[in-house]
Amino acid sequence: MNHFDDKVALVAGGTGALGREVCIALLGAGARVITTYRQQQEFQNLIADAPSARGGKRGTLTGVDADITDPASAAALVNEHMRAGNIDILVNAVGAYAGGKNVWEEDLTTYERMLALNLKSGFVLARAVLPGMIRQNRGWIVNIASRAGYGHSAGAALYSASKAGALALFDSLADEVKPYAINVNSVVPSIFDTPANRRAMPSADPALWPKPAQIAQVILFLCSPESSVIHGAAIPVYGRT
Ligand SMILES: NC(=O)c1ccc[n+]([C@@H]2O[C@H](COP(=O)([O-])OP(=O)(O)OC[C@H]3O[C@@H](n4cnc5c(N)ncnc54)[C@H](OP(=O)(O)O)[C@@H]3O)[C@@H](O)[C@H]2O)c1
Repeated sequence: MNHFDDKVALVAGGTGALGREVCIALLGAGARVITTYRQQQEFQNLIADAPSARGGKRGTLTGVDADITDPASAAALVNEHMRAGNIDILVNAVGAYAGGKNVWEEDLTTYERMLALNLKSGFVLARAVLPGMIRQNRGWIVNIASRAGYGHSAGAALYSASKAGALALFDSLADEVKPYAINVNSVVPSIFDTPANRRAMPSADPALWPKPAQIAQVILFLCSPESSVIHGAAIPVYGRT
């Protein structure tokens, strides 16, 4: 049997630029994928692009309307899909960028949004799936980090701090789950090719940017038995950027 055929994957933010490619890669590999979405239309777009909807052979896709920074919404997601203890794979592709201001010009709302989407999201999700993974002594967790979590340049302090925090969180988590057959890793993109980045940087050459589908293949590998010796790692996926 294919490794992914009996696996359930939760992809948070699976309708985003990277998340949707992660869903498509996991579905193509045969996994049962549960994704969060916030806009029904975005989920419909994902269904339309998913292998099963294209007549592909594999995977099944379920969508859950959830704001994972809202405790009540996150709790509903946990109760409905995670407490069963059958989540094998967690990929957190929720995140957001804010920048362009100095620290003293930033506001608390942006600070809280960066921490909520880039740090709290991973904490809420990991805490929810881990009891089940520990019970079954099996699991794969992939955090989507950012190069900004290492390179703390001017004008991106809140984003950098939130991503650095998430790297630390998943580093510690990886250490904590060493007794179990649970793999915890981060992928670390620099910029990648998304419609939002193309709009924001019209004079840049997107040909130089990694494609989300390429990064999704790295994530798929990190969820496979072939990568079992990679644990507690932060894998750069910068391409040539
Ligand atoms: N894009 C880049 O160049 C780049 C570079 C380095 C790192 N990264 C990181 O890579 C990850 C994915 O980036 P991306 O460009 O694919 O982002 P994206 O297209 O904006 O996707 C983010 C996803 O998260 C969802 N989301 C936002 N707030 C949420 C909430 N409160 N609850 C549940 N879902 C929520 C979004 O849903 P809605 O669309 O409905 O808001 C969307 O599906 C992020 O962590 C980002 O920081 C991106």
